[in-house]
Amino acid sequence: GAPIEVDLSPIAEGQDIKVFWRGKPIYISHRTKKQIEEARAVNVASLPDPQTDEARVKSGHDQWLVVIGICTHLGCIPIAHEGSYDGFFCPCHGSVYDTSGRIRQGPAPSNLPVPPYQFVSDTKIQIG
Ligand code: FES
Repeated sequence: GAPIEVDLSPIAEGQDIKVFWRGKPIYISHRTKKQIEEARAVNVASLPDPQTDEARVKSGHDQWLVVIGICTHLGCIPIAHEGSYDGFFCPCHGSVYDTSGRIRQGPAPSNLPVPPYQFVSDTKIQIG
């Protein structure tokens, strides 16, 4: 599939949108300061799939989280802004992801993957 461009300017702080890339749902979250702080306050070594928040976002664009919205357990689509970590909740078997899309509870073995993407301007990304 071809890369897609997404204009981020309509996404208010604290909101998420879902777009499709190569037939896959992609969540783009405009994180609040609190959500970023929560993601960074974690002891990374304690996570089931240890990754820093910094490694999952683009430096200088830390408010934007871009993840593939497919649960790493059995492939359901998690719901944004649900679950006890203010990230994503998978209704199929209860996996809970945090504001960095990292798995925190439930049967999913790994974090929501970050697709290949880059900023083409301050308010636009290209996915793919
Ligand atoms: Fe998401 Fe099982 S598919 S928890």
